[in-house]
Amino acid sequence: MVAVKSRTQKNRLSLPGRTDKRIDALLSLLTENTTIVISGAQIAKEIGVRRQTVWRWIETLRAAGVKVKGHPRTGYHIERAADVLAPKLLARGLRGTPFAKHIFHFFKVDSTNTVAMRLGEEGEAHGTVVVAEEQTSGRGRAGHSWHSEKAAGIYVSILLRPQISPMLAPALTLVAGLAAYDAIAEESGLRPDIRWPNDVLLKGKKVCGILTEMQAEPDRMHFAVIGIGINVNQTKMPNDLASIATSMRMETGRVHSRLELLARLLRHLDRYYNQFIAEGAAPILRRFAEVSSYFEGKRVRISTSTDNFVGTTAGLEPMGILRVKRDDGKIESVISGMVAEAE
Ligand code: BTN
Repeated sequence: MVAVKSRTQKNRLSLPGRTDKRIDALLSLLTENTTIVISGAQIAKEIGVRRQTVWRWIETLRAAGVKVKGHPRTGYHIERAADVLAPKLLARGLRGTPFAKHIFHFFKVDSTNTVAMRLGEEGEAHGTVVVAEEQTSGRGRAGHSWHSEKAAGIYVSILLRPQISPMLAPALTLVAGLAAYDAIAEESGLRPDIRWPNDVLLKGKKVCGILTEMQAEPDRMHFAVIGIGINVNQTKMPNDLASIATSMRMETGRVHSRLELLARLLRHLDRYYNQFIAEGAAPILRRFAEVSSYFEGKRVRISTSTDNFVGTTAGLEPMGILRVKRDDGKIESVISGMVAEAE
């Protein structure tokens, strides 16, 4: 049983580094008034802090890539909309979804998944979103790390409390991959691919990875955390990743709005998640079959903790598990593992 804590208990949870709500208000104020120079005194009054604090926080925003013009004596303005994934700005694009209400933003954090798992244990609500401009220990699948360059990508974790059996977790994983697929396709204008279970690829290279973690009993899921990393505006990948990973900007030659992309991603997640809860895994599997070249007939190398073999993909089982036909004809069910295209 997971204990749902009272509001007083929840308030005691300390989240070092969480962005102050008044920085969020400062950013909204500047974004809503891009054509006006607002004095430091006016800003201070409006958001309820001292002028020195306004100056310090303007520096924080500049360090995060926001182009704030001006200085303490004259006043401040920003020339174009800030691409910071701040709660107030993000919530505008999420009206009508459960993701608009509880958004935890960090300029820098170890891992958004670690924070979201902690929030899950503390009884935080379904739909809570944890998002960061930079991660210092971003985690990937199979113990890998996730390269999380400051203000270049999207690093987000979503806390979900589906009333489902943990047996359906593989399908929930597909739900997240489909949402990322649609968001990346719309924003880039390109046609991505999905490598089972949910790596999104652009021109054969990984642009998005998803790490699903959960707390469950054998027959009941308490909560799941879906951690999504998207390479958006990186101009190059580190040497060790260059042959396997890419960013949207590297493929389209354009800078993309992370704010707009994240709002799209969460709206699609809301849509697929609702469909999954209402209709089960079947429509999710059908959509996966439509968009993934890995669904059927793809030569792949499978590496699990106990096995490593080459075979041909042969569709999904009803819960979202991958079927792979070995060369001797035997069908294997791959619950989790690394999938790579085989030569
Ligand atoms: C993968 O190995 O493909 C999964 C990568 C998942 C990365 C994301 S970034 C946001 C969230 N926080 C983490 O520490 N990891 C996930």
